[in-house]
Amino acid sequence: MPVTPFSSTEKYEYHHGFATYNESEAVPGALPVAANAPQQAPHGLYTEKLSGTAFTAPRHENQQSWLYRILPSSSHQNFEPVSDTSSQSLVSPSPQFGKHFNAIPNQLRWDPFDFDKEVSWIHSLHLIAGAGDPQMKQGLGMYIYAAGASMPEKSAFYSADGDFLIVPQHGVLDIRTELGNILLRPMEICVIPRGIRYHVSLLDNEPARGYILELYQGHFQLPELGPIGSNGLANPRDFQIPVASFIEDYENTEWTLYGKFGGNLFEAKQHHTPFDVVAWHGTYYPYKYDLGRFNAIGTISYDHPDPSIFTVLSAPSHPHGAGTAMADFVIFPPRWLVAEGTFRPPWYHRNTMSEFMGLICGNYDAKGAGKGGFQPAGASLHNTMSGHGPDMQTYEKASTVELSPQKVGEGSMAFMFESCLMVGVTEWGLKSCAKVQESYNEHSWTPLKVHWKNPGTRGVSNGEKKNGVGDAKDQSSVHDLK
Ligand SMILES: [Fe+2]
Repeated sequence: MPVTPFSSTEKYEYHHGFATYNESEAVPGALPVAANAPQQAPHGLYTEKLSGTAFTAPRHENQQSWLYRILPSSSHQNFEPVSDTSSQSLVSPSPQFGKHFNAIPNQLRWDPFDFDKEVSWIHSLHLIAGAGDPQMKQGLGMYIYAAGASMPEKSAFYSADGDFLIVPQHGVLDIRTELGNILLRPMEICVIPRGIRYHVSLLDNEPARGYILELYQGHFQLPELGPIGSNGLANPRDFQIPVASFIEDYENTEWTLYGKFGGNLFEAKQHHTPFDVVAWHGTYYPYKYDLGRFNAIGTISYDHPDPSIFTVLSAPSHPHGAGTAMADFVIFPPRWLVAEGTFRPPWYHRNTMSEFMGLICGNYDAKGAGKGGFQPAGASLHNTMSGHGPDMQTYEKASTVELSPQKVGEGSMAFMFESCLMVGVTEWGLKSCAKVQESYNEHSWTPLKVHWKNPGTRGVSNGEKKNGVGDAKDQSSVHDLK
């Protein structure tokens, strides 16, 4: 069945589609007809525009929404920086969003990150790695979140710095956004675009933990399908968009709005709820997707294909060249391996792209599992041109095993944040979290055995041309490899 069996039942309705034009009203007649900004909006609502791209962005990339709300978002007191010791700070110290990134070439792997029962969403965000600068709208940030409490009821959060791609590993997030509600369960992902305000509750007070990629520029798209054709990978109809939902709270009330702005955290008070959007229409909205619905494509002949065939979402970086992503979100879902005469796990490789991997559940087929291995809620980072691939045990097994059709990844879901940038690691990621596996390389690749057998001097040229040697190509077919 191509959907995930969730432990929590869905509690909200959704629209469906990706990058489609949507309209939604919680009260009939709240959306004006034709005009976006009539002299008076229906039911005494205010009109507000929310733009996620420049007004003049090409039509196929343009993302804007019109909101019809009880009070505009501009109605609030001044923002003040949240200091580490402020009584308004939910925990001390506050997140160090702007910490320096340490770019190092070592392969890195982390043990599972701890739960934190004390903090709610905002202060559960630990910046672990990234590159670039949100003020320049260039780059990306990667976070581990671990929250043990719901946000205070009358609070909201937004990031002016970028889009949040949230990948839950444990616990269900009940997210109220300005545009409607999203229930986000492990094996689902959610994108909350820049600027959209939201509140995160924990379902049944179960602690939550997971991963986030924040995109400082652009937005995620579906990858091109090329020769695959018109369907496959993540199909547009499986993306779920919230329907309009609002609360009325604008008399004798006080809300706290937290904003992540230029890498720092600010707060402001306001005397009305930010969740008062009665109706909206447009192309700029949050959405979620069930990874179990991914239509995996793979080889049915030979060789291990590039992992780009597992791309769910892609945020292109045009300055880095055609087909190059600032961030790809890639998954390794349950799938059949049938390649003949093939070393089926990933080949050893060094890439210009950097690869941050996480594991939602189960065992990843290219790595050893269990303590000291690649475990759920752990992570790894293989940076630009840092060599990696299967560990010794995986190589020895996969290079000698009898090849029959094999289902891999059952009960498992690994994922990758891949970027064209050289990704640096924060102080928290290297030291404070205390989860780095110091012997990762030593355990994985130092034990690799030499299988090389020199066939003798005959046929060895070491680059020197010898008459009659090396002229004839091996004419054997891959079918002879079986
Ligand atoms: Fe890799």
